[in-house]
Amino acid sequence: MKLRLSLVFTGIFLSSAIALKPRALLSDTVQLTQDDIGDFSAIDFADEATVSLAESNVQACKVFPGDRDWPSVAEWARLNRTLGGALLRPTPAAAACYQGPFYDAERCQYLLTNTSFSHFWLDEPLVSLTEWSQGGTCALAMNPQGNCTRGGFPEYVVNATTVKHVQAAVNFARNKRIRLIIKNTGHDFGGRSVGAGSLSIWTHHFKAMEFIPSYRLGPYNGNAVHFGAGVESWEEKNFMAAHNISVVSPGCGTVGGVGGWMNSGGHTTITSKFGLGADQVLSLGVVTASGRFVTADPYTNPDLFFALRGGGGATYGVVTSAIMKAHPPVNVTSTSLSLTLSPSSNTTNPNPGMLTDTEQFWQGVAAYYRFAARVLDAGGYCFSYIYPLPNNSYRFTTSSSFVDLAPAAAHEFMQPLYDDLNNLGINITNPPSPFVSLYGLPSSSNGPSPGNTRYRSRLLPRENWEDDELWNKTMGAIRTATEGGYEGDFYFHGTLTSPTKEVAGWPGADNAVNPAWRRNRMHAMLMDQTPDQSTERDAVIQGYMNLLREAAPNAGSYMNEGDPGEPNWQQAFYGDHYPRLLRIKRRRDPWGLFWAPTTVGSEGWTVRAEGYHETQNGRLCRVG
Ligand SMILES: Cc1cc2nc3c(=O)[nH]c(=O)nc-3n(C[C@H](O)[C@H](O)[C@H](O)COP(=O)(O)OP(=O)(O)OC[C@H]3O[C@@H](n4cnc5c(N)ncnc54)[C@H](O)[C@@H]3O)c2cc1C
Ligand SMILES: *[C@@H]1O[C@H](CO)[C@@H](O)[C@H](O)[C@H]1NC(C)=O
Ligand SMILES: *[C@@H]1O[C@H](CO)[C@@H](O)[C@H](O)[C@H]1NC(C)=O
Ligand SMILES: *[C@@H]1O[C@H](CO)[C@@H](O)[C@H](O)[C@H]1NC(C)=O
Ligand SMILES: *[C@@H]1O[C@H](CO)[C@@H](O)[C@H](O)[C@H]1NC(C)=O
Ligand SMILES: *[C@@H]1O[C@H](CO)[C@@H](O)[C@H](O)[C@H]1NC(C)=O
Ligand SMILES: *[C@@H]1O[C@H](CO)[C@@H](O)[C@H](O)[C@H]1NC(C)=O
Ligand SMILES: *[C@@H]1O[C@H](CO)[C@@H](O)[C@H](O)[C@H]1NC(C)=O
Ligand SMILES: *[C@@H]1O[C@H](CO)[C@@H](O)[C@H](O)[C@H]1NC(C)=O
Ligand SMILES: *[C@@H]1O[C@H](CO)[C@@H](O)[C@H](O)[C@H]1NC(C)=O
Ligand SMILES: *[C@@H]1O[C@H](CO)[C@@H](O)[C@H](O)[C@H]1NC(C)=O
Repeated sequence: MKLRLSLVFTGIFLSSAIALKPRALLSDTVQLTQDDIGDFSAIDFADEATVSLAESNVQACKVFPGDRDWPSVAEWARLNRTLGGALLRPTPAAAACYQGPFYDAERCQYLLTNTSFSHFWLDEPLVSLTEWSQGGTCALAMNPQGNCTRGGFPEYVVNATTVKHVQAAVNFARNKRIRLIIKNTGHDFGGRSVGAGSLSIWTHHFKAMEFIPSYRLGPYNGNAVHFGAGVESWEEKNFMAAHNISVVSPGCGTVGGVGGWMNSGGHTTITSKFGLGADQVLSLGVVTASGRFVTADPYTNPDLFFALRGGGGATYGVVTSAIMKAHPPVNVTSTSLSLTLSPSSNTTNPNPGMLTDTEQFWQGVAAYYRFAARVLDAGGYCFSYIYPLPNNSYRFTTSSSFVDLAPAAAHEFMQPLYDDLNNLGINITNPPSPFVSLYGLPSSSNGPSPGNTRYRSRLLPRENWEDDELWNKTMGAIRTATEGGYEGDFYFHGTLTSPTKEVAGWPGADNAVNPAWRRNRMHAMLMDQTPDQSTERDAVIQGYMNLLREAAPNAGSYMNEGDPGEPNWQQAFYGDHYPRLLRIKRRRDPWGLFWAPTTVGSEGWTVRAEGYHETQNGRLCRVG
């Protein structure tokens, strides 16, 4: 109390000085000094305030390998010495499958048969889990045709473990005017963690985790955690188990909890209860485009603090660590339900949920989704797919999750839905029993393998649940889009969650998260697995997307599971925040150092590439 009074007296009550500062993470304490720089001006700092407009516009294209200005081998070696040997020049892993100097049949076989459902690809410095974004120039395959080339993979990678590594890489890329990318886990679906001719800052090995039992900042006084930028969700889960806490973290175990997931929003099972990933953040360690390491919190660099929580990754700086809220331990109670439509099935005694009537199936789907609003309002989460199958058949799978609700109570909660379905003639006489598990349960490190998932999405707002006409339009759009899927091999994915401003609390409610999230009921996605995004194919799927857009014209889309070719992406991914975010981007990064597709300010540059739409296999140049 005494401390508080004296701070009020000196007029700095609202200063971050009130935070009982935890010990900094070791990775944040090792910083670039003038001694490190010496006469190596290529890694010297800059000052964003003194950059003139003319100076910031001077460069037509990023310096590319082979250009006269591309750094010499000696310069790269000198950078490597500053980095203590952390500079990598990796060969694409799949080169082992291609004829040439790296051919290795045994290794290729290993990659093909022994790396799925493991952590292998997460530890690869180049790999992006979405292959098309690299340009498909070295795809993993048995006896592939052609040669393996680097394509959209970066030239060099800094295997960063300290702030100093990040600072040296940022300064070098800015001073040498080469493309810079940031890669954490490489899970991004839109090509935001690859880039031809680039230097990559790989944050994967920022693994520190600390528990802060009593963290005070402004009105916040409670448990917190301090995580390095490379921490993955499965590591967070293990940490929660050890410390008897819950931290809002990605549902997929290998998605990063601090990187792009958080930077663009970050939804998960407990989001209707505690908010999005971006809503958890209390303080960030950030290396800005100038190379300076700063703290961003509500009172220090508030512009960065605002933008980095929802306004996108790879745009305003490199986050090196985050202090986030830690909640009490919670249980998640889940119950599943699925319906299968098989019109040509002549079974006389169908399984529960096995339907032959198409209209009845879609009525059942609609009944589930409409009921889901109640699950969200109770702090829950729903996760669903609709898969088109041959012969006009469909499979609808759902999982409904509640926070801290006993199984019997969860069953009772769901009963009105079962009644609705029974009234439609869909016999749910023996629904599956809900099961309980601790949210912070020790979790596996297995990750996905590279694939070609491409998302297109819409955040459908609560209004659509409240008006019958709008509701019918919404369900009609979902049905028509899904029915288009079989021939085209795409399917529907709906995740339902409700991160309102009330749930986001302080300081989450005032962040850059797409405003469409605050009114969200369903994140509706069309998922496509075809890498060859021909204009014709895109037009067909966009036609279906337009039905969803018409059903929710003022909403938006979630960039992390959205289309890198989304029309009017500024509105779709950022909503009303776009102009403010663009001002922050221009002030903090007048050099255009950080760049990735559909990030704020990215419309000023374009990748000159052939082949797949939005591929990163080309030179990055200014527009016009
Ligand atoms: C299997 C799977 C499941 C998923 N499930 C969910 C889910 O349940 N909920 C959800 O919201 N999303 C989900 N996603 C999407 C996920 O949010 C995005 O893929 C996200 O971009 C991953 O962030 P990352 O840092 O792990 O990956 P990366 O691809 O390494 O990075 C993503 C972007 O963030 C930038 N970035 C990364 N780290 C930093 C940093 N420290 N500072 C600045 N910029 C940085 C990168 O430059 C890149 O632009 C899922 C993805 C996959 C593949
Ligand atoms: C950087 O230095 C380390 C250690 O000396 C070395 O192993 C590595 O190959 C070097 N990187 C490059 C790109 O030369
Ligand atoms: C690869 O997997 C196979 C079968 O699962 C196993 O027998 C083999 O030992 C594995 N190879 C390596 C190099 O791990
Ligand atoms: C692959 O590389 C070899 C050797 O450099 C070259 O002769 C050949 O033409 C290349 N093949 C293709 C398909 O580019
Ligand atoms: C990157 O650095 C970490 C930590 O020093 C190390 O464990 C890992 O092997 C390195 N990865 C590569 C590909 O060099
Ligand atoms: C874990 O935390 C909860 C609530 O915060 C508390 O009730 C419980 O006693 C704790 N359990 C252990 C083992 O410390
Ligand atoms: C979670 O559920 C289990 C089993 O029902 C119970 O033992 C445990 O106390 C619950 N934990 C919390 C945090 O509610
Ligand atoms: C299923 O029944 C319909 C009529 O009820 C019939 O036309 C059709 O041939 C039957 N199909 C099979 C595979 O038996
Ligand atoms: C589709 O229906 C036809 C004719 O009834 C049948 O022969 C075929 O096996 C069915 N296909 C599948 C995948 O069920
Ligand atoms: C549903 O159950 C009722 C009563 O048990 C039965 O008459 C009816 O045929 C069942 N409907 C379906 C589609 O199985
Ligand atoms: C919505 O659709 C249902 C079922 O098709 C129909 O009964 C109802 O009249 C429709 N409501 C409106 C407002 O269009």
